[in-house]
Amino acid sequence: MRASSAVSAAPPAAKKPDREGVLAVLQDQPTLDRVQGIIRELQLEDELTLEPTLDAALRRIREGGSPRVLILDLSDSTAPIAELSAARSVGGGDLKILALGTVNDVGLFRDLLSAGASDYLVKPISREALAIGLEKRNTGSGGGGPGAGLGQVVAFIGSRGGVGTTTAAVACAWLLAEKHKENTVLLDLDLHFGTVALNLDTDPGGGLCEALEQPSRIDALFVDRATVKVSDTLRILASEAAVAETLMIDAGAIDVLLYELRRKFAWVVIDLPRWVTPTQRVVLGAASRVVILCERSLAGLRDSIRLQTLMREHAPQTQVLLIDAGASGERATVGKSEFEKAVGKSLDASLSHDSKSAGAATNAGQPLPVAAPRSPVVREIEQLITTLAGSAETQKRKMFGFSRW
Ligand SMILES: Nc1ncnc2c1ncn2[C@@H]1O[C@H](COP(=O)(O)OP(=O)(O)O)[C@@H](O)[C@H]1O
Ligand SMILES: [Mg+2]
Repeated sequence: MRASSAVSAAPPAAKKPDREGVLAVLQDQPTLDRVQGIIRELQLEDELTLEPTLDAALRRIREGGSPRVLILDLSDSTAPIAELSAARSVGGGDLKILALGTVNDVGLFRDLLSAGASDYLVKPISREALAIGLEKRNTGSGGGGPGAGLGQVVAFIGSRGGVGTTTAAVACAWLLAEKHKENTVLLDLDLHFGTVALNLDTDPGGGLCEALEQPSRIDALFVDRATVKVSDTLRILASEAAVAETLMIDAGAIDVLLYELRRKFAWVVIDLPRWVTPTQRVVLGAASRVVILCERSLAGLRDSIRLQTLMREHAPQTQVLLIDAGASGERATVGKSEFEKAVGKSLDASLSHDSKSAGAATNAGQPLPVAAPRSPVVREIEQLITTLAGSAETQKRKMFGFSRW
């Protein structure tokens, strides 16, 4: 079994003592009528607030709203698990989340509970089920804390190409796995041109593209088969799709894939292409941290700002870290303070320009900490991991002897 205390996405969802009201994202009138009816019948004195989308509901919570219950109709969602995870991270561990849907399936029920739902009700919802879900005394029913036992997703994204995103993602995954002894998977979502496998001198493996086109193939067994072992604690999942191949990737497939990976690994590190697709949105929705490698050029500044806006709008639950990318070298023409002023915050870390170490790593197909263990850039990446993991959390996981393989 997974240790439910093992991992927590735990962004600063502050404890709010007086939760009240029901916030709902619904899709049909009969369900709305039923919810209103039950609130009246049970005399809950809860104000019902409706929002048209999950994004709007989460915005309301971020702006200080503190509902007791969130009802989330996922019937039309292409990424129900990522949406639930996002709701759980933003809402905090003590928010009751009632997920609604049309599929009556025990597997889905279990998956939604692990992803953070307090309960899953199948439409048309019965009076009794909804009454139990909305009752005030019934607060401890499942759900658990944020992410309830699932691994953390960290996405690396470059504000431009060639800024060292893959190098940093590989180094981070390697350090998490080898130095911190955490089970880690590194997922390369640039399915055509990704270089994660090259950078680790391994085969990209097979099956990822087909699975992303046919989500029904994705289960625990698939994860065992399709990930390529780098070490006892590090695996990668990548592909090398033919350049001419157009892939029809289903956002729901990424949702299921991330869920399966999070069940198995304490860390899911993702090398994420920066063009935005429905797939990227699902990843951002599931990520507890997004690391943006910023190039201090004019184009890099423009795109860092645009990525920040994207995160604010589509990944409000995530902690965004802006990193001064070392690889930019001479392209870093904008001064650091000017850059920070323009992005509206200070850079969270800086990676040094070190073409000797980076070149040695790239040529040898080794992670930076192996190729150049004593280089300053490795120390800086280690520092970044401390920020990512938070030492207390790592300590906690160690205590529970986290082992998933
Ligand atoms: N800190 C650094 N200093 C100098 N060169 C770097 C650094 N990090 C990476 N590089 C080099 O920059 C190039 C692009 O790196 P890569 O990680 O593939 O970038 P991206 O994924 O952003 O396209 C590689 O040749 C790599 O060796
Ligand atoms: Mg890359």
